Amino acid sequence: MCGIVGFVGSTNAAPILLNNLEKLEYRGYDSAGISVIENGCIVTKKAKGRIANLKKLTDDGKNVNGCLGIGHTRWATHGEPNDINSHPHESMHGKFAVVHNGIIENYVSIRESLTKKGFKFMSETDTETVTQLLESYYDGNIMDAIVKTLHMIDGSYALGIICNDCTDKFYAVKKDNPLIIGLGDGENYIASDVTALIEHTRKVCYLEDNEIAVISKDSVHIYNLNGEEVEVKVKEIDWNINAAEKGGYPHFMMKEIMEQPKVIRDTVTPRIKNGEVVLDGIELDRYLDTVNKIVITACGSAYHAGFVGKYVLEKLARVPVEVDLASEFRYRDPMINKNSLVIAVSQSGETADTLAALKEAKRRGAKTLAIVNVVSSAIATTADDVIYTWAGPEIAVATTKAYSAQLTVFYLLAIYMARRLGKIDDARNAQLIADLLKLPEKVEKLFEQKTVIQNMASLYFNEKHIFFIGRNLDYASALEGSLKLKEISYIHSEAYAAGELKHGTISLIEEGRLVVAVACQNQLFEKTLSNIREVKARGADIVAIVDESNTVIESETDKVLYIPSTDPLFTASLSVIPMQFFGYYVAAANGCDIDKPRNLAKSVTVE
Ligand code: M6R
Repeated sequence: MCGIVGFVGSTNAAPILLNNLEKLEYRGYDSAGISVIENGCIVTKKAKGRIANLKKLTDDGKNVNGCLGIGHTRWATHGEPNDINSHPHESMHGKFAVVHNGIIENYVSIRESLTKKGFKFMSETDTETVTQLLESYYDGNIMDAIVKTLHMIDGSYALGIICNDCTDKFYAVKKDNPLIIGLGDGENYIASDVTALIEHTRKVCYLEDNEIAVISKDSVHIYNLNGEEVEVKVKEIDWNINAAEKGGYPHFMMKEIMEQPKVIRDTVTPRIKNGEVVLDGIELDRYLDTVNKIVITACGSAYHAGFVGKYVLEKLARVPVEVDLASEFRYRDPMINKNSLVIAVSQSGETADTLAALKEAKRRGAKTLAIVNVVSSAIATTADDVIYTWAGPEIAVATTKAYSAQLTVFYLLAIYMARRLGKIDDARNAQLIADLLKLPEKVEKLFEQKTVIQNMASLYFNEKHIFFIGRNLDYASALEGSLKLKEISYIHSEAYAAGELKHGTISLIEEGRLVVAVACQNQLFEKTLSNIREVKARGADIVAIVDESNTVIESETDKVLYIPSTDPLFTASLSVIPMQFFGYYVAAANGCDIDKPRNLAKSVTVE
């Protein structure tokens, strides 16, 4: 959600800014803009819609000349997506230009007081208050104006700032929003995430909250709010540029679906040593026996992964687990204390609600653990402990491989905790680990069904409503299958706990209505089969996803998709694969923008 870029060097900044903005497109946006210092003046170009519009407006950046600039992709929050509300925002006399991710919570009062002082606002955005504040405080000392501005604003922000009195440096600041500095050779960059930097440099510095970076082509200096210089901590990015390219696939989503065997392998293999799960570098052991409750908090698919986590953790470690949407958790006065373990799950590590829930958990004294994909992200660095999902960069808005990696981490964590708490014996431990290690090849086997599912999608792509049902882990998987379909194909779909249908939902079933029934846990198969019969009797078309041993179901359904047998606790990792393909092919048949569905953002950095 929103993307920031910045550049200073010896070449024309605009084409580089535009190129780097394109790398951030996947985060989600509805307008884009750049500001470049040209002959001591700030020149700003903005356009509603795709970056292609901005490229057209600037002749691919060739008609804006200058070696220093900032750029932005905006996902509208305050004010509609239009040229005026797009970033960068210039101050009243064009002294400063600012790009911003996040929300300035007290912008209304600041705007009122600046208006009284004669400042004229052009846009409806919260961001413009930052630009105007900078100009209001500026007396020739940029750093001083920035510090005074930061003391005035509340909320979350990553900011890129340029001033027309300073033609060789720009400034970057962050609080609760990511901002990364890319260190090049005679040129330096900023970006919201490393995908925009990897083409230029592998050396990066993750700016920390309340730090101010001063960036010129040959140097980067970082200061705290007291004006003291702090160390620039340089890290090497260890993934290569191909990880952020489509690699011959038509969409990132398909590439990422196909990467799942590797991702599961990468997440599991280094954590199995001598037949035991090893979670290096986390403190869980120190307090595990004091934990009397676990709360998993997350949003969207990460929340669905949390559902799976609940079943597996309760079953193996025998600790009570609640799963809560992060956006609900923080406002429900949660009953947690020092004996609670709160697990925050997030691909991006930036999701505002999940971060806020995590902070609330810490404030109440709970132990905190994050399951995160993006290294050094806000959620990863805020939690007491972090277990990384080694999924690599995930570009498609609809998560697939990161979700699979999250499930895998929950399996590892559940086995680890069960072992430490003495809840499983050597034989069960060995069997679980053996099944876990076999998951990647079983996912690969499911890829053989791709064409069958594509054909199935061609039968159902015109549906207006599709239902998904399942029980326990199958229900958790149904929730994810339903979200995958609706978010990219725009077809209304709902997931229900199969036993709940007859308490209301079954009235929606009519002749020809598609119901995808997930029935992969053999111990619950008969129960779900009864629910399948209930909807079938009312005219539904049934596509069932079942364990390969359950061929009896063929006569009861319209289509069966089989998953390879595995431990019942791991079935969600397999049942989700056909549903990912189904969502993908239905969206493709409808001509949808699969990687960038309308209205959605990859990183949801606002509440
Ligand atoms: O980055 P996060 O895992 O915290 O994101 C959470 C959700 O926004 C995310 O899973 C979302 O639901 C995906 N679009 C689902 O495909």
